[in-house]
Amino acid sequence: MIDVSQAGRWCSARRGCAVLGALGLLAGVGVGSWLIVLYLWPAASQPISGTLQDKEMPLGCSEASNEEAPLPALPRPVSFRTDREDFLLEVRVGARSDWLLVCHEGWSPALGVRICRSLGHLRLTYYKGVNLTDIKLNSSQEFAQLSPRLGGFLEDVWQPRNNCTSGRVVSLKCSECGARPLASRIVGGQAAAPGRWPWHASVTLGSRHTCGGSVLAPHWVVTAAHCMYSFRLSRLSSWRVHTGLVSHSALRPHQGAMVERIIPHPFYSTQNHDYDVALLRLRTPLNFSDTVGAVCLPAEEQRFPRGSQCWVSGWGHTDPSHTHSSDMLQDAVVPLLSTQLCNSSCVYSGALTHRMLCAGYLDGRADACQGDSGGPLVCPDGGIWRLVGVVSWGRGCAEPNHPGVYAKVAEFLDWIHDTTQDSLLSPVFSSILTVHQPHVSWGLQQVH
Ligand SMILES: *[C@@H]1O[C@H](CO)[C@@H](O)[C@H](O)[C@H]1NC(C)=O
Ligand SMILES: *[C@@H]1O[C@H](CO)[C@@H](O)[C@H](O)[C@H]1NC(C)=O
Ligand SMILES: *[C@@H]1O[C@H](CO)[C@@H](O)[C@H](O)[C@H]1NC(C)=O
Ligand SMILES: *[C@@H]1O[C@H](CO)[C@@H](O)[C@H](O)[C@H]1NC(C)=O
Ligand SMILES: *[C@@H]1O[C@H](CO)[C@@H](O)[C@H](O)[C@H]1NC(C)=O
Repeated sequence: MIDVSQAGRWCSARRGCAVLGALGLLAGVGVGSWLIVLYLWPAASQPISGTLQDKEMPLGCSEASNEEAPLPALPRPVSFRTDREDFLLEVRVGARSDWLLVCHEGWSPALGVRICRSLGHLRLTYYKGVNLTDIKLNSSQEFAQLSPRLGGFLEDVWQPRNNCTSGRVVSLKCSECGARPLASRIVGGQAAAPGRWPWHASVTLGSRHTCGGSVLAPHWVVTAAHCMYSFRLSRLSSWRVHTGLVSHSALRPHQGAMVERIIPHPFYSTQNHDYDVALLRLRTPLNFSDTVGAVCLPAEEQRFPRGSQCWVSGWGHTDPSHTHSSDMLQDAVVPLLSTQLCNSSCVYSGALTHRMLCAGYLDGRADACQGDSGGPLVCPDGGIWRLVGVVSWGRGCAEPNHPGVYAKVAEFLDWIHDTTQDSLLSPVFSSILTVHQPHVSWGLQQVH
């Protein structure tokens, strides 16, 4: 996490802080990005309690926290699931409450890819038509048939049927993610046991841990763009991605996966850390196991409400004075905060963009600073875990009113899918995105 404490000092020194806060913070972030030493954060600055009484505040803390009423979830026109043991695809259409099996006629592989993506998976693993005679069905089971040549996400194109004329239904398997195979053996505690966060990666430069990351697929890891930017002059061959680790002393520099390409988001801003995500493509695929696996992305349109109990993990600082980073992977539960509150004058004074979200506590508990830059913020959803945020920035550590700020993964789904879909990288795109040794190409973002 980038510490933007400098802004706090300027702010607490003068009145009119609400106006200057945003400017100061942005400037602080800009300066901070040049000065980041990910291991040695500057000492925490004074809390900005003085600003809370400022009469010029447009919005008080209590107002801010009452402002944002949760929106009622709109029923989706079409929902999908593949939860059954036999991976049969089911669709729920419009106001119907039941799940229909999908007839194979009219089906297209492209629709399968779209459905897997909408469910938060990076890939389609396979699909096939399954003989109805081969499966056990409830006698009241109904089917849905897709009108050919129309997108599958509109209600009108699904026609309920009593049976499928082809006698076959669609079985769809999306790439696995979000599971913790060893979960039943995990006991609580501060230091994470192996397999507790199987997607947690350590991104190293030489033998030095620089950032956290999250595994999305055997070839793909997501981290923060500012991590890569800070070390953009490093040779590509010096980067490694280590997975399945809980203790850093077990790290063997040469054993990590080599990085083939570093792809920062083309709109990443060093000024305010907007679009703070980067994808790492690995030269050789990770070997998935009980302790190494992918995390799921948020499903399409999925909103995690404020107060959701999510988890941040990392080897980041375990004490507010930023002097120690832990040998063991740490984790902490951090509730999601409302963006309105977090963007209010009491917290980050307008510094948040729509690509950011906040999680943690306003009373200055230490938890939020345990994440290290680029690491995962994950939220449980049914039986799986979804990557909701990427550790980005914050002011100080464990200071009141300064929770952690994360890149909001839901805003990057299209970019992640387009970028990780190798075959879709057009020549024009890849010339922008491909890393030319030894430097990272920053695409549209000029390096000054
Ligand atoms: C469905 O099952 C029948 C009987 O087992 C078989 O003859 C037929 O080839 C199967 N159809 C497909 C598409 O697998
Ligand atoms: C069949 O499905 C209906 C509704 O979907 C359910 O209420 C019923 O219990 C099911 N019966 C069996 C035998 O699974
Ligand atoms: C659906 O049709 C297939 C063959 O067309 C038949 O074998 C099957 O029993 C039918 N299923 C139902 C639930 O009517
Ligand atoms: C995965 O396993 C293969 C075979 O054991 C090995 O060659 C490869 O280096 C491993 N990949 C990683 C990233 O460790
Ligand atoms: C935060 O506040 C600033 C200034 O009022 C505004 O420009 C920005 O859009 C807000 N961010 C979000 C995510 O609402």
